[in-house]
Amino acid sequence: MGTKLVIDTDPGVDDAFAIALAALSEDVELLGVTTVFGNVGLEATTRNARRILALCGRDDVPVAQGAARPLVHPHAHKARYVHGVDGLSGRSAALPEPGRPVEPGGAVRLLSRLLEDSDEPVTIVPIGPLTNVATLLAARPDLHHKIARIVVMGGALSHGNVSAAAEFNVWSDPEAAHRVLCGGEVPCVLVPMDLTYRCAVSRAWLDELSGSGPVGAALAALTPDYLTHYRKALGWDGIVLHDAVAVAEAITPGILTTETVPMAVETSFGPARGATLVDQRRPELRADTETPEDGAAVRVAVDTDVDALRAFLARRLTSRLTLR
Ligand code: BDR
Ligand code: CA
Repeated sequence: MGTKLVIDTDPGVDDAFAIALAALSEDVELLGVTTVFGNVGLEATTRNARRILALCGRDDVPVAQGAARPLVHPHAHKARYVHGVDGLSGRSAALPEPGRPVEPGGAVRLLSRLLEDSDEPVTIVPIGPLTNVATLLAARPDLHHKIARIVVMGGALSHGNVSAAAEFNVWSDPEAAHRVLCGGEVPCVLVPMDLTYRCAVSRAWLDELSGSGPVGAALAALTPDYLTHYRKALGWDGIVLHDAVAVAEAITPGILTTETVPMAVETSFGPARGATLVDQRRPELRADTETPEDGAAVRVAVDTDVDALRAFLARRLTSRLTLR
């Protein structure tokens, strides 16, 4: 039936596009969605995830609620300045109400059950803080072999977005990110903001989406606050669909070009907390000074055919959308 997928998410406008991308793709078997704190609080992210699935006519997909805070160090920061007060530019209530209740037992239990029940390995796509996925890896080592890949949206190789050094998802729970990315337990692909920024879509792309039908119109209607933020961040009238770029790689492996690099997650306190540090020294030089703190080999998405990626997102979000 296609790629078996679970999305772990904190919707969030770009999360909404990412969920819709998977939910509307016929070659994807979306087994479940789990929610985590992040862009807004956990109650809101769970509500938003369920409403996006309802918009896509996917009340068959179970949703379970996960972590309300990071693994080790609590913090109160939210990204309402990016995604609006309710995480969807203040438009969440305009979406349809879901017909299906939240799954009892929480995110780790749902993830475990989906892995146990699957006859083939499942791809997990964390597009929020990595708390739920780190907890799963710690709690259920017996299920690691049932995970095909973990395709993570997160990290920054050059500069961050929530601080000079750090990207929001990794910064929101650096200890969890360290476990998932550098623990070496399950193959990971990291899709950093360096690449997602290059795939930003224009106002014209959004206008085409908006005119394509009710789902496209409802998705585009979630973007006003997000557009305001990205006008500042990009310097032009567009938005960055970070999470949808990661889901694109999860459902079409190889759509992004990846490279394996030595990486460490900064978990100390200070201006670089949450940074993903890539060791760019020549291997011969690195070998002279190697320590365990240097980091682990992590597969990172570094390039793609940007126009083809934008067209892919457009095609999947509505077959009537033609503009890049
Ligand atoms: C990531 O942070 C969130 O605000 C977005 O939803 C995305 O997952 C980008 O840094
Ligand atoms: Ca997100």
